[in-house]
Amino acid sequence: MSYNALYTDLSGYYDLMCADIDYQGQSSSAHRLHQIFGNSGKQHLDLACGTGPHIAHLIQHGFHSQGLDINQPMLEIAQQRCPEAQFAQGNMCAFQTDQKFDLITCFLYSIHYSGSIEELIGCIKSAHQALQSGGVFYFNVVDKNHINNELFAKHSVSQGADLFQFSSAWHYIGEGEKQTLNVRIDKTCDQQTLTWEDAHPMVALDFEQLKTLLTPYFEVHVFEHNYEQITPWQQASGNAIFVCTKA
Ligand SMILES: C[S@@+](CC[C@H](N)C(=O)[O-])C[C@H]1O[C@@H](n2cnc3c(N)ncnc32)[C@H](O)[C@@H]1O
Repeated sequence: MSYNALYTDLSGYYDLMCADIDYQGQSSSAHRLHQIFGNSGKQHLDLACGTGPHIAHLIQHGFHSQGLDINQPMLEIAQQRCPEAQFAQGNMCAFQTDQKFDLITCFLYSIHYSGSIEELIGCIKSAHQALQSGGVFYFNVVDKNHINNELFAKHSVSQGADLFQFSSAWHYIGEGEKQTLNVRIDKTCDQQTLTWEDAHPMVALDFEQLKTLLTPYFEVHVFEHNYEQITPWQQASGNAIFVCTKA
C-alpha cells in the first residue's frame, strides 16, 4: 500500500474519481458564506487545491484565485484547467505570503492532511497571517468521534474500454490524533483488473478541540455539512463546515 500515489503518479485519475462531487455547489457555498461573514474583497487562495476545480468555479464568481498544493502533478492539471490563476507548490501547514487574501478555502476535508495537531496549528496560523482583516478561512471537517470504520463511498466510471471503481473510507482506531483515509482504485480492461491502494495519514480531532485551536485567531461559525442551505450546526452531525473570520 502506498501513501499518496493518487496525488502523484495516479493524479491523471483524480478527476475521474471525483466525477460525482458537486464542485459548483461547494464553491457557491464558500462564496455565499464569504459574502455574509467576510469582507467584500476578491483575493482568494485555495489550500490543497488539487486539480483546481473549486478555483475554476470561484473565478466565475469574480475571485482572483491562487492555489497551493504539496504535489506538483496535481498543480500541473490545475494550471491547465485554470490558466488565469496562479499556483504554487508548498505545504499548507507552513506557508507565507506577501499578498493578503480575502477568502482562504480548503475543501474536501483536505485540512486533515495537516497530519498532526501541531501541523494543524501551523496551518491555522499561516491562514490567519495570510488573510486581510475581515477575511474568511472556510473549510470542512469530520469529527473523529463520529467516524464509522464500516462506511465507505464507492462509485464506478467508464472511460473508453476501461472501467474504474473508486472507493474511499475513513479509519480511526478510537484514540489519539491520527486517522487515515483509505483510497482504492480498480481499473478493469479486457477482464484484467489492476488495483491501487493508498492509506493517507490525516489528523484526527473533535469539533470542540478544533474550536479551541481556532478561537485565539478567529471568530468561528459552524454550519451543517450542507452546500445547498446555510444551517447552523445542530451539534449532532460529525461533518461540518467551519467559517472563520479574522477580526
Ligand atoms: C482530497 S484532495 C483535494 C483536492 C481539491 N481540494 C478537491 O477538492 O478536489 C487533497 C489534496 O491535498 C493535497 N495535500 C496533501 N497534503 C498537503 C499539504 N500538507 N499541503 C498542501 N497540500 C496538501 C494533495 O496533494 C491533494 O491535492
